[in-house]
Amino acid sequence: MTKKLFVKTYGCQMNVYDSARMADVLAPLGYAPTDGPEQADMVILNTCHIREKASEKVFSELGRLRLLRAERGQPMIIAVAGCVAQAEGEEILRRAPFVDIVLGPQTYHRLPEMVAKAARAGGAVLDTEFPPEPKFDFLPPPQSDGAAAFLSVQEGCDKFCTFCVVPYTRGGEYSRPAAAILDEARELARQGVVELTLLGQNVNAWTSDGWGLGRLIREVAAIDGISRLRYTTSHPRDMDDDLIAAHAEVEALMPFLHLPLQSGSNRILEAMNRRHDRDTYLRLAERLKIARPDLALASDFIVGFPGETDADFADTLDIVAQVGFVQTYSFKYSARPGTPAANLPNQVPEPVKEERLAELQTLLLEQTKIFNQACVGKRMSVLLDRPGRRPGQLVGRSPYMQPVHVDDVGEYRGQVVEVEIAEVHPNSLKAVAVAAERKRA
Ligand code: 5AD
Ligand code: SF4
Repeated sequence: MTKKLFVKTYGCQMNVYDSARMADVLAPLGYAPTDGPEQADMVILNTCHIREKASEKVFSELGRLRLLRAERGQPMIIAVAGCVAQAEGEEILRRAPFVDIVLGPQTYHRLPEMVAKAARAGGAVLDTEFPPEPKFDFLPPPQSDGAAAFLSVQEGCDKFCTFCVVPYTRGGEYSRPAAAILDEARELARQGVVELTLLGQNVNAWTSDGWGLGRLIREVAAIDGISRLRYTTSHPRDMDDDLIAAHAEVEALMPFLHLPLQSGSNRILEAMNRRHDRDTYLRLAERLKIARPDLALASDFIVGFPGETDADFADTLDIVAQVGFVQTYSFKYSARPGTPAANLPNQVPEPVKEERLAELQTLLLEQTKIFNQACVGKRMSVLLDRPGRRPGQLVGRSPYMQPVHVDDVGEYRGQVVEVEIAEVHPNSLKAVAVAAERKRA
């Protein structure tokens, strides 16, 4: 009999990938995905620990699940996975003792054992080890149900930015071997995937047998059926010459790069241990745009890092104005227990953080709007991978990750279609189809 599995994902794309792989691991046990907790036999919260709010959400969701399970009077395995589990496993079992399984991001290949144990024993199963065996060696082939898929190539981080929990929750940098990645990419292409996003916490630190990410990108792009490639998230320090050259040479590589800058102040970048300064970033942005003139940059920013003055913040506004970003995520600094910056003096008062965030976001939003507006009348290729609200309408992503709606193209689902952008809506673009670029065999 099939059992129903509901996985709720918080945080980054790495978690989206992990959630899909957890479902793959549980499929042989008879679990099939469902889209809500109401009927689920097992619920996994795949959590994020990057900012305080993210972990608090998990505890409120756990409270709701407990009530739901009691009300419907039917068993439900409740599992907490991901980075909150890794960082606060014991704390979860203390605050939410009704949870059955707590597992870290490195142990989900052992989920079948944990489920069996949880079913047998009363009491929770906790597995937040960093096991010596890489989980990737134990995962079944990925199952993709769409034309776009993620492929995890690298995990963990050795950079130790002083604000960040990732080196602690995900561990040190680990690169999957090239052969395993290429096998997975071929398998996904066979399943009909045309767009691959190579994932890693520090994806451009990926290395295997003397290859760097630039080489890997060329090899993946050569796989039959893969016509669009992306990679995320990158560290400015790891953008090497070959990777920059790949932007010029590999047509399938989308002209869009998420390259977090965090701050425009050299003093703050130093205190953040970012290992680059504003000039290095500016030069890098310039080189990338020379390699691929239609390239657009995305970034993350933190305001109110400890010790950030008005002058430091002005440097951030200044560099944003110079570079121009088309998509951004910006946050108020949130002190994370166990990270060096949490103990720094000169924590910035909340109202100051709020004011700076509002000011920065106004500027960033303006840049996104200008970029979107400039797309009107332009032609671009869109991978139409999802149905829209209206019959015959499909939705997909532009090369720049903008959601694009196109009417009367129902038959092109899963294909890359050339469109002309017609209108800008608050959160998407509207386009008309010009021609289907390629048809699925
Ligand atoms: N406070 C605020 N933002 C943070 N980020 C990471 N750690 C923190 C923190 N402690 C942001 C960074 C990173 C993104 C994923 O989250 O901008 O690039
Ligand atoms: Fe965190 Fe810095 Fe590593 Fe990114 S590079 S995951 S911000 S420590």
